[in-house]
Amino acid sequence: MTITPTQFHDLMLRRRSEIENALDQALPTADTPPPQLHEAMRHSVQAGGKRLRPTLVLAAHELFPSPRNPMPAAVAVECIHSYSLVHDDLPAMDDSTLRRGQPTCHVAYDEATAILVGDALLTLAFQILADSYHDEPTLSVALSRVLSKAAGSAQLIGGQMDDLLAENDPDPDPDLLASIHSRKTAALIIASLEMGALMGERGNDEEFIALTRNMGLSLGQAFQAIDDVLDATALSDQLGKSADQDGPGGKCTLVTYHGLEEAKRIAAQRTEEAKEACRKLGGDHGFLLQLIEWLGSRDH
Ligand code: IPE
Ligand code: IPE
Ligand code: MG
Ligand code: MG
Ligand code: MG
Repeated sequence: MTITPTQFHDLMLRRRSEIENALDQALPTADTPPPQLHEAMRHSVQAGGKRLRPTLVLAAHELFPSPRNPMPAAVAVECIHSYSLVHDDLPAMDDSTLRRGQPTCHVAYDEATAILVGDALLTLAFQILADSYHDEPTLSVALSRVLSKAAGSAQLIGGQMDDLLAENDPDPDPDLLASIHSRKTAALIIASLEMGALMGERGNDEEFIALTRNMGLSLGQAFQAIDDVLDATALSDQLGKSADQDGPGGKCTLVTYHGLEEAKRIAAQRTEEAKEACRKLGGDHGFLLQLIEWLGSRDH
């Protein structure tokens, strides 16, 4: 079913507000002892953000909807994503001071608190999956397996490791760059789509799950390509996070490696691939298709 841009915009706003309510419910209250930790968790998660990954969980579930509630899984993914940002911003990593329009966690609190906030959010994600789907143990295990693999050392964390190791490399391998993007960014985007799809009516259809993952890979690569472009072209105020970090930080990105125009071309090509893959999913993919398009032209 196709949806108009206005319907898309309204749905995005509605979903975002539902996701934020669910996050608010899932996080320990700020006065839970020790309050410094719980306030800091809320600082980092509730500052905002596009809520892309939870939105993808909901959108993938909607392709072939089932009576299952995808929201706890969506919240779990956003906990992992938010933790990865808190750690990514640490002085030992990208050393960023602005995130989601707020001082980064280690600036607003301190480094030790930011490390513990990451630990706590990572753990909370799996507690949510265990608690929320315990009446369907097979599903609960399947969701945990997908999320832990994507967040683990061969995927997200390994991508972050190689991203750091590639800093100031005078002759980086372009295949390594693609592999870093697939792991540090695409892995969680793929997992979000897979988790949503697993909870839908075609969750047992391996071919459908493979198509979903395939779409996620293109979307994830497009997403990081645009992130690299925005770092070089947008202002911190517009992004709500520290801009112009990659060049001065000696990062190996699509822009520092290929130049701005080629990076934009790669982003557009990956976006087209994601749209093509999305059409192949069948089901009610109108929202997902518009979401990919919106991400392709995002300015933050
Ligand atoms: C930033 O992700 C980190 C990357 C993987 C590029 P987002 O751009 O989705 O950050 P938020 O969630 O909107 O803050
Ligand atoms: C971060 O990539 C990816 C993860 C957090 C896993 P970046 O370092 O490019 O993300 P930003 O630009 O700081 O959001
Ligand atoms: Mg980084
Ligand atoms: Mg960073
Ligand atoms: Mg970046």
